[in-house]
Amino acid sequence: MFRRAVCPGSFDPIHNGHLDVIERASRLYDVVHVAVLINKSKRGMFTVDERIAMIEEITAPYGNVKVESHQGLLVDYCKEREIPAIVKGLRAVSDFDYELQMAQMNHGLSGVETLFVPTSPEYSFMSSSLVKEVATLGGDVSHLVPELVFRRLSERIADMRAEPKTSSD
Ligand code: PNS
Repeated sequence: MFRRAVCPGSFDPIHNGHLDVIERASRLYDVVHVAVLINKSKRGMFTVDERIAMIEEITAPYGNVKVESHQGLLVDYCKEREIPAIVKGLRAVSDFDYELQMAQMNHGLSGVETLFVPTSPEYSFMSSSLVKEVATLGGDVSHLVPELVFRRLSERIADMRAEPKTSSD
């Protein structure tokens, strides 16, 4: 019987803080599912398929990571695949309140456990939103994301800049 866990998130895009947690989970479990949750109300910088392709390529060396998308409740994803554990990174105390609520809700809904991994201190300030904002405004994020993501991010920002401006700009 395989020991399975899921690392869920939006991953728009994956950054080194995410990767740190996924890599550590991949050493603790036989199979780690990375679930890219679809949020219909948010337009991402990358499509879900683009996010999955990047994560697959980056995590391929670990050898036990499976990347999929999911729309709906995370506990349903876990139930369908018989995954008993969710692994989440905790960056700071400020993450704890909401993460605790979600962990308790998920446990109450289905009995799935949540395990928290303290984010490595060098990644404690990171989020995908900040990475995108800094990169879009011309800041260097090459040390914050895997090289593949840095390339895709630079290409996407260049494409966005090249897009014709609308009259309201
Ligand atoms: O990377 P994010 O956006 O911070 O990840 C948040 C995510 C996707 C893990 C969380 O919003 C989630 O689990 N969404 C799935 C829908 C769900 O199960 N909602 C109830 C949570 S108790």
